[in-house]
Parts: sequence; C-alpha cells; structure tokens
Amino acid sequence: MANDTLTVTDNRTGKSYELPIEDGAIRAPDLRQIKTSDDDFGLMSYDPAFLNTASCRSAITYIDGDKGILRYRGYPIEQLAEHGTYLETAYLLVHGELPTAAELEVWTHEITFHTLVHENVKSLMEGFRYDAHPMGMLVSVLGALSTFYPEASQVDNPDVRLAQVYRLIAKVPTIAAWSYRHSRGLPYVYPDNDLGFTADFLAMMFRIGARYEPDPAIVRALEVLFILHADHEQNCSANAMRSIGSSRVDPYSALAGAAAALYGPLHGGANEEVLKMLAEIGDVKEVPAYVERVKAGEFKLMGFGHRVYKNYDPRAKIIKQVADEVFQVTGRNPLLDVALELEKIALEDEYFVSRKLYPNVDFYSGIIYQALGLPVAMFPVMFAIPRTAGWLAQWLELVEDPEQKIARPRQLYTGAGERDYMPITRRETVADLVGAV
Ligand code: CMC
Repeated sequence: MANDTLTVTDNRTGKSYELPIEDGAIRAPDLRQIKTSDDDFGLMSYDPAFLNTASCRSAITYIDGDKGILRYRGYPIEQLAEHGTYLETAYLLVHGELPTAAELEVWTHEITFHTLVHENVKSLMEGFRYDAHPMGMLVSVLGALSTFYPEASQVDNPDVRLAQVYRLIAKVPTIAAWSYRHSRGLPYVYPDNDLGFTADFLAMMFRIGARYEPDPAIVRALEVLFILHADHEQNCSANAMRSIGSSRVDPYSALAGAAAALYGPLHGGANEEVLKMLAEIGDVKEVPAYVERVKAGEFKLMGFGHRVYKNYDPRAKIIKQVADEVFQVTGRNPLLDVALELEKIALEDEYFVSRKLYPNVDFYSGIIYQALGLPVAMFPVMFAIPRTAGWLAQWLELVEDPEQKIARPRQLYTGAGERDYMPITRRETVADLVGAV
C-alpha cells in the first residue's frame, strides 16, 4: 500500500515534514507547522482566484474537464436534459436524489404555491427607472426579499431553510419576468398556477391580454436550457453564495450576492458578447478573416475556451440540438450560419486544436434567447433563474457541513511598515514625494 503522505523539506531550515494526503489534497493548515522560528506565523499557500485550492467537499456536481463530463448528483447531464424536467433537476440538486412521483408532486405544489410575491415587491419594482437593467433589478429585489421573510435568518433551522428554498425557486421567475416587463413598459403579469414552471414563466414574460399559449416545443427547449444551467460546482457565483452564506446570513442576502457575481461579463455575461461578435462578423464569408484576426491575438473568440473544459463543453453539444428545435418554431436565426461556420473553421484549425479551445455553453445559448425575442440584457437573468436551484443546493450543503466556518482567506501583506500619524499640515502629496526622489 502506498503511503498517502507528502514529505516536504524546507530548504531554509533543512527540516522535513510529512503531510497527510486525503482525497488527492493536502490540508493548507498543515503547512502552518513549517516555520523558520517559534514566532514565525508558518507557511501559507498563495492562490489568487483559487486556481488549485478546493474550498469545500461537495457531493452535488461533478465535472471532468478533460473528458467533457458533467454530472448532477452522479446523473449525466445528457440524460437529465433528455428525460428530466427542471423542477425534477432542482429537487435532485437540493435533496440529492431524484424524486418519487409523490415527492415530485409535493415539491411542485410547494413551488407553484409560492410563485406570487408580496404586492409591496411590485411597488418596489415599479420604483426603478424605466430603462433599469433587468439584472440590476433582480439583484436588488432578491436582497429586499429578506425584509419580507425575517424568519429566514434562522439558518440553523432545517424547516425554515426549506421554506426559503421553495420561495426562492418559485419567486425568481416572477421577479425575472417582471424586470423584463418593466424594461418594456408593459404591465406585470401575475403567475398562473395552472401552468407548469417554464410555461408560467413564458406567460409572465409574453402574455398580452387574456390568453397566451406557449408553444410546447419552446417550453421544452427552455426547460432543457434551465436543466443545463442549474449548477456548475464551484464557479464564481456559487463561491459567492457560499462565502456570503458562511457568515450565517439569510439566503436572500446570499443569493443577491451570488446573482451579482453572475452579472459580470466574465461569468454570466459572455453569451451577450457572443451575440455582438456574430453580429459584427455579419456574414459567413467574413468568418475566415475574423478567425485570422483572433489567431493574430487581436481579440478572443467569444464563446470558446473554458478554464475547466479542455474538451467540447457537454452543455454546448446539447444546446446546439435545442437551437435546431427552437428555430423550427421561431424561424432560423441568420446568425446561426455564422456560428456554425465559425465553429467548423475553429475546430479544424491548429491554433484552436493545440490549445484545446472548444465551444462553451455561451456559444449557442444567446442565439436561442434572441430567437425567443429576448433582449440581450435579459440573458444573465435567464441564467440566474435555473442557477437559483444550484446556489441553494450549494448553500444548504455549506450550512450543514461541520467542516465549514466563516470564509476568511489570508493575505500576503504588501503595504507600508509601521509609521506615525502625520498632522495634515505636514503631509506631502504624492507629487511632492515623486518630485523629492
Ligand atoms: N479565443 C482565442 N484564443 C483563446 C481563447 C479564445 N476564446 N481562449 C483562450 N485562448 C488562448 C489564450 O490566448 C492562450 O493562448 P497562449 O497559450 O498562446 O497564450 C490559451 O488559449 C490558453 O488560454 P487561457 O487564457 O490560459 O485560458 P483561461 O482558462 O485562463 O481562460 C476563458 C478561460 C473562458 C476566460 C477564455 O477561454 C476566454 O476568454 N474565452 C472567451 C470568453 C468566454 O467565452 N467565456 C465564457 C466561459 S463559459 C461560461 C462560464 O463559465 O461562466
């Protein structure tokens, strides 16, 4: 049997240390015993952006980036997308197992039952400027929800936690749809509890007058997109959810923080960039010249490459099929031809092949959202709706994990040494200091 330890020699002192290896990792606090003297703080690891630091143990989502594998609770994403529903997937993420028929019925009832929001939330939303960004509205309203449910601060109570899970999964689509209606100057549409989760969301978005019959093919396509976006292990927004939640604040406040992290262009905003790029290329015949400019380092090919996937993003494969189904209803988005040509050329080109650059989830999702008639500003909101289940699953795992404490990284201090307070009349400006050199 191999010894599951790591022997480290500190060349400053010549001392050796044996550190246990567990699940392919050493514990960073074990490094603290490595000291040059008794008053030395001990060795730390330095890892800005957590490139090689596991911040938690998690049983929710598994990714193998080299093989292009994504599984929720062990179930391949392809199978969930083909056979599952979004609410079933949300149950799986939150509870760890697929629901029985009876469990799904209760879960669906609870979520349907909580889709309405307090009328004061509506007034709050009406107070935003006419051109408010829907994602800014969503982030704000999520934070405000904590004031409507003060009991949510009892994060140690499992029943209270579950009640907030129902509320959040149920209310985010309502708030998301209303943020869209607000930006269009349209009256807000109340949830219709006779419709399913996704059909109800579409109705709140697009209903004008008394009736709206969403096309079943569009409902199913959106359902699949929701399944694909439901969780992606320790990404930027999941990490924000856990970090904020580790202070034991209520889940509304933590979820507002997670949604704010998603809002950024490096995370939930890349699909918008893809769309701008495709529009800029404009025509299939312009693709080769555009690829040459990418290879010359002028700019990146948006929707390509991923920190974790060094293979085709499994979500992108499924989204490509969904796009075909959507276009049969909506008509073909002319930008699809540009995207297909771009993918074809890039996948054959040595530059992209040698760097293992493949289409990611954002490459085709924006084209679908555009075909559904959504403005670009709604794209991150569309991401936030299903990701709510993932954020909540990550939060529940965090608050129940006895190994977790408040998230509080260390730093390597690079500032000034101790110095005395200077009265304002004797202070020099930076310009004086530079001039004095
Ligand atoms: N187009 C052209 N070259 C690229 C691209 C691209 N999209 N992505 C990476 N490269 C090159 C990069 O220049 C580098 O080349 P070299 O070795 O010659 O310096 C090499 O590939 C390795 O790239 P990297 O920058 O070390 O990769 P990273 O893991 O730090 O970055 C990424 C990952 C997603 C930020 C990057 O691939 C990128 O900017 N892609 C475009 C933006 C995008 O589509 N983002 C959505 C990500 S998926 C949604 C999500 O997770 O939120």
